Amino acid sequence: MSLYKPETVICNGETFKVYLSEKQIQDRVVEIAKQLNRDYADKKPIFIGVLNGAFVFLSDLLRNVTIPSEVDFLKLSSYGDEKVSSGQVTDLKDIDANIEERHILLVEDIVDTGLSMKYMVNKLQRKNPASIATVTLLHKPEATHHDVPLDYVGFEIPSLFVLGYGLDYAQEGRNLAQIYILDGEQ
Ligand code: IMP
Repeated sequence: MSLYKPETVICNGETFKVYLSEKQIQDRVVEIAKQLNRDYADKKPIFIGVLNGAFVFLSDLLRNVTIPSEVDFLKLSSYGDEKVSSGQVTDLKDIDANIEERHILLVEDIVDTGLSMKYMVNKLQRKNPASIATVTLLHKPEATHHDVPLDYVGFEIPSLFVLGYGLDYAQEGRNLAQIYILDGEQ
C-alpha cells in the first residue's frame, strides 16, 4: 500500500513540513490500543469518534484493538475554515447508540483549547453511561484552558497549527498519512 506522505505539502497556499512521521504515529497508535485492550478487557466499550477529524486515528486505533467493542460517531463544528478556534461549538450530528450503563471512549484527533472535549463529555454524561474516558492523538497543553480530563494522549505538542492524518486546513489535507506543521515553525 502506498500512502500519501510527501516531505512538504502546499495547502491553501501555505507550505507545511513533516512534524510526526508515519512510523511515529503508528507506533504510538499501537501502544494506546494495547493499553485499551488491557484497561477495557471485560467492558465492551463503545468508541465514539468525533467527526470529521478523528476518523483516520479511530480507524487505525480500532484495527489494533482486539477486545469486543462497538463504534459510533458524533459531529461538532468549532473551527470553520480558520486556523484559530472560533470559541463556539455547534452540534452537527448526535450519536445513534444507546450509551446508558456503557463504557465510553471518546476519541478526538486533537485537543486545543479543550472546549470541544469539555462540551462533549458534559453532553454524553447526561446520557448516563457507566464511564467516559477521553482519547486524543494530539494535545496542545499550553493552549488548553478548559478543564477537561485527558485519559489517553498520543503526543503533547506545542501550540502550533498542524495538518494531516485526519486534521484539515479549510477541509484540505486530511488524506496525508503524516502530521505536518507550517514551514518555518519549530
Ligand atoms: P478545541 O475545542 O479548541 O480543543 O479544538 C478542538 C478541535 O479543533 C479539533 O477537534 C480540531 O478539529 C480543531 N483543531 C484544533 N487544533 C487544530 C490544528 O492544529 N489543526 C487542525 N485542526 C485543529
